[in-house]
Amino acid sequence: MRDAGTVRMFSTALLVLLLMQGGRADEKGGISKIVERGKWLVMLGGCADCHAPKVFGPEGPVPDTTRFLSGSPAGTKVPDIPFDAMGPDKWGALTTPDLTMWAGPWGVSFAMNLTPDVATGLGSWTPEMFMKALRTGKHMGEGRPILPPMPWPAIGQLKESDLRAIFAYLRTLKPIANAIHEPIAPPAMHAPGDGKGKK
Ligand code: HEC
Repeated sequence: MRDAGTVRMFSTALLVLLLMQGGRADEKGGISKIVERGKWLVMLGGCADCHAPKVFGPEGPVPDTTRFLSGSPAGTKVPDIPFDAMGPDKWGALTTPDLTMWAGPWGVSFAMNLTPDVATGLGSWTPEMFMKALRTGKHMGEGRPILPPMPWPAIGQLKESDLRAIFAYLRTLKPIANAIHEPIAPPAMHAPGDGKGKK
């Protein structure tokens, strides 16, 4: 009797253990599926076009995989901006060859470091901040307006699980310390309505 009880006890313990491990395996499978989906959405969203520094080969600029999605490289000289080349009947925006710096009527914007580096990337962000930023168009979810050409109005349409998947994938990237440049305001002479923009 005692033996049967012991056996039963062990079987129960074993079953519980198996269920727990099964649960854990499922969870792992689930997480890697979410990350995979995030990776796929990042590819589809063309995030690397703007957020990855590039290497230049015969095929033109391609994302630099050694510092993937680490944003506009710090220390790169901001080229002179021919604001005169831009206007309603002229050009709408200009970009650097690596597509990480953008000049337009909004001034100059620099693609953010999306790697999980704490000081310079998304390391200190929560998934909620990430979602709020992309849905409201406010820096970190509550700051200044997010500047063009960041396509937040489109990306922010994704459902919560997709935005969480993108964030989960970004968390798996190699953290790269790259403090991107602060945005530059447009020259005052081009402020709309001040009349100084006219020659
Ligand atoms: C056409 C270029 C472009 C594409 C494509 C793009 N981004 Fe951006 N992104 C930018 C620029 C430029 C900024 C910096 C804007 C600023 O400083 O206000 C930015 C900023 C951000 C920010 C910071 C927002 C904040 O709170 O300040 C996040 C997060 C982000 N992008 C995520 C993404 C993701 C994810 C994708 C792809 C699904 C993506 N971006 C695609 C150009 C782009």
